[in-house]
Amino acid sequence: MGILAFIAGLLPGNAQTQSPKLGKSSVKAVIAAMSLEEKVKLVVGTGGDFPDLTTAKKNEAAVPAMSAVDLVPGAAGTSYVVPRLGITPMVLTDGPAGLRIQPQRPNDSKTYYCTAFPVATLLASTWDTELVKKVGTAMGNEVHEYGSDVLLAPAINIQRNPLCGRNFEYYSEDPMLTGNIAAAMINGVQSQGVGTSLKHFVANNSEDNRNALNTIVSQRTLREIYLEGFRIAVEQAQPWTVMSSYNLVNGVYTSENYDLITKILRNEWGFKGFVMTDWYGGTNAVAQMKAGNDMIMPGRPKQIEEIINAVKSGALDIKVLDKNVEHILTVMLNSPHFKGYKFSDKPDLTAHATVARAAATEGIILLKNSDNALPLASSVKKIASFGNAGYDTFSGGTGSGDVNEAYTVTISQGLTNAGFELEKTLKTQYENYISEAKSKHEKPADPIAALLEPNHGVTEMGVEMLSARLLADECDAAIITIGRNAGEGNDRKNVEGDFKLTQTELSMIARVSTAFHKVGKKVIVILNIGGVIEVASWRDMPDAIVLAWQGGQETGNSIADILSGKVNPSGKLTSTFPMKYEDVPSANNFPGKATGKSTVPPGVDFGWVTGFIFPTPAEIIYEEGIFVGYRYYGTFGVKPAYEFGFGLSYTKFEYNGLKVASPDFKGKQSVSVTVKNTGAVAGREVVQLYVSAPASKIDKPKSELKGFAKTKLLQPGESQTLTFTLNAKDLSSFNTEASAWIADTGKYEVLIGASSSDIKLTGSFNLKKAIVSMKVNNVLAPQVTIKELSKK
Ligand code: BGC
Repeated sequence: MGILAFIAGLLPGNAQTQSPKLGKSSVKAVIAAMSLEEKVKLVVGTGGDFPDLTTAKKNEAAVPAMSAVDLVPGAAGTSYVVPRLGITPMVLTDGPAGLRIQPQRPNDSKTYYCTAFPVATLLASTWDTELVKKVGTAMGNEVHEYGSDVLLAPAINIQRNPLCGRNFEYYSEDPMLTGNIAAAMINGVQSQGVGTSLKHFVANNSEDNRNALNTIVSQRTLREIYLEGFRIAVEQAQPWTVMSSYNLVNGVYTSENYDLITKILRNEWGFKGFVMTDWYGGTNAVAQMKAGNDMIMPGRPKQIEEIINAVKSGALDIKVLDKNVEHILTVMLNSPHFKGYKFSDKPDLTAHATVARAAATEGIILLKNSDNALPLASSVKKIASFGNAGYDTFSGGTGSGDVNEAYTVTISQGLTNAGFELEKTLKTQYENYISEAKSKHEKPADPIAALLEPNHGVTEMGVEMLSARLLADECDAAIITIGRNAGEGNDRKNVEGDFKLTQTELSMIARVSTAFHKVGKKVIVILNIGGVIEVASWRDMPDAIVLAWQGGQETGNSIADILSGKVNPSGKLTSTFPMKYEDVPSANNFPGKATGKSTVPPGVDFGWVTGFIFPTPAEIIYEEGIFVGYRYYGTFGVKPAYEFGFGLSYTKFEYNGLKVASPDFKGKQSVSVTVKNTGAVAGREVVQLYVSAPASKIDKPKSELKGFAKTKLLQPGESQTLTFTLNAKDLSSFNTEASAWIADTGKYEVLIGASSSDIKLTGSFNLKKAIVSMKVNNVLAPQVTIKELSKK
């Protein structure tokens, strides 16, 4: 060795003695220094917590977590660490109603509770992007302070059918609303220096057979309905990561689909982060790498072997793997673990509870209010509270979206906190009944089965006519709470006790309404539900109906805020409530059908994970095409029970002064309208802008949401002018032949509404020359002909 080389060898940073370090050297230099095995282990993430599996099974099921998973017990998984190159762990934790971690730890007297915020559907029902951003900020702060790096949320699949078991985790049947609410959430969470994972990409709109469900859907429907929310959220907010879904789209697993992940997500929309699978999603690890699905969660040892062999045999170009690694490391550079953030484990849970309560209150929807039954009159002091869920309230749904919160304020507690007196005998009767029924229920011993077991609550106790009469004499008003719950892994059913009310519930509403009305007292139904239910057959009986959704840990307080009139309700529906299930456009195509048998090889048993890795093949056809939700009801003249965008207030609003800036469209169109509070109390109004496009060769829905805004709190007599801007894309439909979004020539109507059918003002403008607003790749075509619903 020459003298110079010897001296150089002593200097710091020398390549012979020191490896490059992430953050100090370029990402490319770090990748160049990684061994093949290190690269593959990074793209194959490490496991979650599998308390029920033996060590051997755990190791088979997922790559055992390096010490990393212990960083945050209850995390869903982590990424692999390579200390010599400065590659730190990224901790990935669920979402979306708050951070999901273990609240207690062995040999540790401290607790690690998180705030249960309202479910996603309720947040969207606020139509308030600023408020959603605030919720995201609080949630992101908990992610940061509890030592996680990425929140596995928001979840933005379209609520295609009211029975999807996960609808509560999703925002809406409309992609424009979905995308904008999601962007606000992502911006909020990521403002705290942590990441999000926008999921489940894409067309994962049902749960039965979810791990091998082939979604058959047209290109136009994919573009206009199912991809659109993701596009808006990615373009507006750049989530750090995207999670591909379990299902296949037109024959290819989404996680193995290059056209979807690379061509659309990265190339068309400019996504810059990394893509991970849903837990155990897809079957071909090498295809996932090639597709651009950078990380497999939680990876299994077999997948490491497969990828290494593919690189060695030349079946997988190392350059592809290097790109996957680069995507992951680039995100890692921003992560709290990489930055060495010393998390406190002490987020301000009290402040966040206030945010949760305000959000829950804003998203409550008043569906009915005859004779101003609400807010409760000041003479109402003593309330008879019927229905189990009034005492055993649902704060959120089940599954990975279930937050471990310190407490849930039940509806009865909320009313008591607000100063109402709850009739004691009835209360005690319910409490005893519920606790006895619960003590008899055996939870599955398997913790995952227990997690995924839908907690439908205790069977309704029911009410006798005689006791309803006695209580009516004694109390000033009645509330009846109807509860429903669901979660991932299973869809709901159009049966009694799920979509439909049970006979016991129906007779409870009938008896209580009859008894209380007889003595001139009001009856309020509260819906503590996670998804749409049947309302048409019973809604005439009570005086008022309050759709409270599942409002997180502060549910009871927020409902009391509305009932007492402390807050004027301003939520509006983000999905249609049909008259009956059979009216739903996808009713005949939900939840899909099994097309084969599970593929578990003989003798293989990974415990509860088995069904995920070897699922039953199934298929679902989206024959309703673009006519999802109000696009269907409006276009085909099918009257819903409560339409998209509907919600009442304790005050009244007048709409006037619609101004469409220009008679001709010149690249942009500005629309403004003035809303005045003409009632007696302060309130907020959600103003919706729909566009009705001119008839063209392709079907157009009657109208589509293209703008929305919520007024500030308007005092009686106060007005506010709201301005919207429409661009060429807002006027466009996806034209499959041209593989482009095209705005056709003709007259465009602007409809300003308080809901999708309560249109207050209309205007119009012309488009003289068609505009191609976005040219895209001709990809994701179905291999079979779909008999799509059409107006023609
Ligand atoms: C769910 C995802 C979740 C993941 C990790 C999966 O079963 O579909 O939404 O993020 O588990 O817990």
